[in-house]
Amino acid sequence: MSAGAGGVLIVDFGAQYCQLIARRVREMGVYSRITVPERALFTLDSMRPGAVILSGGPRSVYAHDAPHLPAEILERGIPVLGICYGLQWLTQALGGAVQPAAESGGEYGRTALEVVGDHPLFRGVARNATVWMSHGDKVAALPDGFVTIARSTPCPVAAAADDARRLYGLQFHPEVTHSEGGTELLRNFVVDLAGCPTTWRPRSIVEDKVEAIRAQVGEDGEIVLGLSGGVDSSVAAVLMHRAIGDRLHPVFVDNGLLRQGERDGVEALFRDHYHMDLEVVDASRQFLDGLAGVTDPERKRKIIGRIFVEVFQERARSKRKAHFLGQGTLYPDVIESVAAHGGATATIKSHHNVGGLPEDLGMELVEPLRDLFKDEVRVVGRELGLPAALVDRQPFPGPGLAVRCLGEVTADKLRALREADAIVRHEIESRELHRDLWQYFAVLLPVKSVGVMGDARTYENACAVRVVSSQDAMTADWELLPVEVLRRISNRIINEVKGLNRVTLDISSKPPATIEWE
Ligand code: XMP
Repeated sequence: MSAGAGGVLIVDFGAQYCQLIARRVREMGVYSRITVPERALFTLDSMRPGAVILSGGPRSVYAHDAPHLPAEILERGIPVLGICYGLQWLTQALGGAVQPAAESGGEYGRTALEVVGDHPLFRGVARNATVWMSHGDKVAALPDGFVTIARSTPCPVAAAADDARRLYGLQFHPEVTHSEGGTELLRNFVVDLAGCPTTWRPRSIVEDKVEAIRAQVGEDGEIVLGLSGGVDSSVAAVLMHRAIGDRLHPVFVDNGLLRQGERDGVEALFRDHYHMDLEVVDASRQFLDGLAGVTDPERKRKIIGRIFVEVFQERARSKRKAHFLGQGTLYPDVIESVAAHGGATATIKSHHNVGGLPEDLGMELVEPLRDLFKDEVRVVGRELGLPAALVDRQPFPGPGLAVRCLGEVTADKLRALREADAIVRHEIESRELHRDLWQYFAVLLPVKSVGVMGDARTYENACAVRVVSSQDAMTADWELLPVEVLRRISNRIINEVKGLNRVTLDISSKPPATIEWE
């Protein structure tokens, strides 16, 4: 049976909120998967879901480039819920009419709903719930068989149902937190009306993953894995080690851009505790040489990415028996919608991941976390007994301290940054203040300023302290630490770190700033 059988297949019509729908469904214990319209029928047949959700999207159903689905999808007897564009597509496909909400100019933001009748889709939802709308078109005439089950003032059809065919539609977005009763609505559809089993548990998947890894690599296949010490590659490593033991060869590249104690921590955990055949490659010289004289942030990122690939490839090739390349790729990285909808989101920063390696290496990928979200990976990590300090640790960028050492990266600047960063982390973590924070770190600024220490004049670098809260790194707020903690951080950095004589506080949110400085 397919892994997702009985789960929910979400068709992405280019929605901003597609991942949110997938998350909401998984939060109710039902497996969910996102696909693009072009692959919907194929995925439907291979996955055999218990329900289909059609997402919203930015187009009008009448636009020449509007995404469409084969109408066969509605003939399989699988319950379908269309959200926003999804409802409009259903309407048009089944012979109803959609038109621009011209006079009202569309409906954006919060709207009071008026539930009509007593449909089970609205069980447990207030009759005048406030919901989140965001649409320019509206349903003008429902197809045969459908009835209106909710409306709002500008929108005569805010929700509709055809119970005989188990087809449903919502003009508003139940997946966003601004929609009251949205979670109940989704649950009513997925669990009560479609009958999807609520058996998806990150816990129950550990053994499935182990089995799947064994099945993929066979009796004597070997895997090389780039271990960064972050949550994803660590969880992937432990899963693979559980599956194939010493046939896993984790490689940790020390790029010289790591935080204080990081390499020792990785060695202690994976070599001493898990007894893995860990290879540590000290490539710090190569990275520092490559970065010498470079100040442009994008060039720095590209150089680091290139050297990483070179070093890793060389080590992977030396492991001649390994035909598999392990990666800790997560679901948000593989969701197809990005490519399918043009996905030309502007490159703000070239993110550095292990991607790009496999084609050159001619190795087959093993990616056990491909269908998991970050918080699910954390649950799996805990289940595997990984230490809480690792599972819950703050994100650390692939290019490491290089993007926090503004301007040219030198060994001496890295030393000062590493010491300052260790102080920031210690003062926050020892008071347990990090639980509500997304990231907290020091940044070395490429400016010198005058100070006085003892009776002598100093002329040294400044550093910034960056502390942010966030849900997903897409947006972030700066957070203010208690004044006594800030005072202690500043005193310690200025007194203990050679080369720094001034500490500043970064009070910028994202957007318009980004979390990292480069
Ligand atoms: P920005 O600076 O774009 O960062 O607001 C968003 C989040 O991504 C992390 N980050 C990276 N993570 N490779 C990564 O794996 C990278 O190249 C990279 N650059 C930034 C950053 O720490 C923040 O959590």
